Amino acid sequence: MTIWTPGDDGQADLTAHDSFVAGPPHNTFRRLRDEDPLHWTPYAQGEDFWSVPRHDDIARMIKDTDTFSSARGIRMEDQTYEEYLARRTFQETDPPDHTLVRRKLVRAFSKPAMAAYEADIRALCAEILDAALDQGTFDATKDIARQLPMRMLGRVMGLPDADLPWLVEKGDALIANTDPDFTTHVLDRMTTDEFRMMPFNSPAGAELYGYAQDLMASKAAQGDTGGVLHMILEPASDGSTITETEFRNFFCLLVAAGNDTTRYSIAAGIQALCHQPELLARMQAGDIWETAPDEIIRWATPALYFRRTATRDTQVHGKTIRAGDKVIYWFASANRDERVFDDPFTVRLDRQPNRHLAFGQGGPHVCLGMFLARIEVRVLFQELARRISAIEPAGQEKFLRSNFVGGIKELPVTVRLS
Ligand code: HEM
Repeated sequence: MTIWTPGDDGQADLTAHDSFVAGPPHNTFRRLRDEDPLHWTPYAQGEDFWSVPRHDDIARMIKDTDTFSSARGIRMEDQTYEEYLARRTFQETDPPDHTLVRRKLVRAFSKPAMAAYEADIRALCAEILDAALDQGTFDATKDIARQLPMRMLGRVMGLPDADLPWLVEKGDALIANTDPDFTTHVLDRMTTDEFRMMPFNSPAGAELYGYAQDLMASKAAQGDTGGVLHMILEPASDGSTITETEFRNFFCLLVAAGNDTTRYSIAAGIQALCHQPELLARMQAGDIWETAPDEIIRWATPALYFRRTATRDTQVHGKTIRAGDKVIYWFASANRDERVFDDPFTVRLDRQPNRHLAFGQGGPHVCLGMFLARIEVRVLFQELARRISAIEPAGQEKFLRSNFVGGIKELPVTVRLS
């Protein structure tokens, strides 16, 4: 059964957030994969750019950081150098600078480190699901998917529980800065110049900056110097340290990157359960948990794209990418590429191999939080499958207005308890 059918006419403007309000324009991505795998994309709000829609191209190019750099921004929107410096984190740097900072963090986010949180995650999932499912009919994004990731991230970062609802709200405003349901300052509809030095051009970035600073001051006053946030402040192997601005940006990055992506993966998984009823039985049988989280995350692909900038002229598909050109890797398209995935619009919980690129696999920037995200998705669906005997749509889902974050922001469902 089809989970969801793309409704675009194959000619969607990929730079327009409105092209994504009915879900990603997959007919357009398919046409580009077939007809124009290196597509020069006009962009009214800034420099035109190359769109890369095929899986194998992205998988190859993402490794080549000498030619395709992250150090001039990773979003479609253009930045001045001054803005770049004010807003960058280690994600907007290349090796070897990137490696020095990343090395400080990998252990804290490693598979074993995240596995230690499994019992906590399970307890949180139980609490969230028991409250949501009792309602019978409810919005699964709001009452399930939105509840888990920030609370877990709060534990990993050592944040007070009382601050978490506020952080969820600010994280939403930050990353969904093109959707009027989440921000008062819609990026492409009004001037956000006042906040141009802040993450995501957003006033929420300014507030999170302040929060991060106060948090570290109060931790220092209590002699608390453990945890992920302190790790990034430690000197790197060459003795270098990050600046205060870089630290505050890192905090915003975690709040943004760790919150919405996992939430929208959970939402997309629940959407799949509603439309492919055999998935619930498969989850209840329980033989698919090695592979299911990645398939759900492939289906979701919440990070629709990331951008690079060419450092030198290079040829791809017989065309010349010039030094300085922006290049957009459309993960959303790669993860539906028929050249790599059989039946890409169907969720197969036992899909193997599953070479999806939702985490930016292959490159040095591969998602730092992927082990945490996978455990959260697995445990949430294990606990959900234990509690229900059926789930179905109770209305039309609504997608985020964003060409950067792919997500179902409203997902009305009805459940029957086991
Ligand atoms: C399903 C959930 C998630 C998805 C789909 C996702 C996706 C991604 C992608 C595609 C990248 C690579 C960006 C690039 O190549 O420029 C990335 C990087 C990153 N992610 Fe995630 N992410 C998820 C969850 C998380 C979580 C839970 C955290 C935090 C705990 C997190 C923190 C980060 C960070 C810090 C980076 C930058 C790493 C670097 O530049 O070295 N992500 N993520």
